[in-house]
Amino acid sequence: MIEDIIIAIDGHSGCGKSTTSKFVAEYFNYKYLDSGAMYRAITLYLMRNEISHNETDLIKDKLNDINITFHYVDGQQHTFLNNENVEKEIRGKKISNFVSKYSSISIIREYLVSIQKEIGKGKKIVVEGRDITTIVFPDAEIKIFMTADIDVRAKRRFEDMKKNNPDITYSDVLKNLTERDSKDSNRKDSPLRVADDAIIIDTSSLEIDEQIKKIIDLIKNKFS
Ligand code: DC
Repeated sequence: MIEDIIIAIDGHSGCGKSTTSKFVAEYFNYKYLDSGAMYRAITLYLMRNEISHNETDLIKDKLNDINITFHYVDGQQHTFLNNENVEKEIRGKKISNFVSKYSSISIIREYLVSIQKEIGKGKKIVVEGRDITTIVFPDAEIKIFMTADIDVRAKRRFEDMKKNNPDITYSDVLKNLTERDSKDSNRKDSPLRVADDAIIIDTSSLEIDEQIKKIIDLIKNKFS
């Protein structure tokens, strides 16, 4: 058992952040919030309604029509957009290619950050994303920044995505990750950066169970 805290995890795409965060949450019996899924669900909604990332006034009007929730399906947390299970669709190639564009829009970020802050109020939660340690929960009791070499990340993400996207190639994934790294790190509003007091974990040469153990041990040592 540990104290009631917020575990904030940021980092690059494809370094095992989601898998690690889920296991860490499960281990401590904490809630788990995948903030990236929220950006993906909004992207899906706006693309379905043919609203481009430039139409900020229209986006502002539409935000109230978007309800994102998470529910367990077969033991896994799935993302629902206005009560529709969109888990599979938001992980596909199309949304992965466009999510950085929509997630750079300040009005979308403000909206999601306020929802995320509300969800985290009761603590006992693992939250992962790109601005969790810096903007959403700058006072989180523990802040972790995960990274790994781009080739390692692309290989892992490719293995993961090809199950549901049989036409995807390794070079598609490498290109998408490179572009997203650049967009996530260079956008004006809340770019991906390492918080001053974050612990950096490079997962390039770690197996998933090793990185999970490393983070669990770190938290147990500090908070139990
Ligand atoms: O973690 P992910 O790959 O599912 O995130 C999808 C995109 O959402 C990612 O390219 C950047 C964006 N994102 C963000 O801007 N801020 C967050 N807190 C989480 C994700």
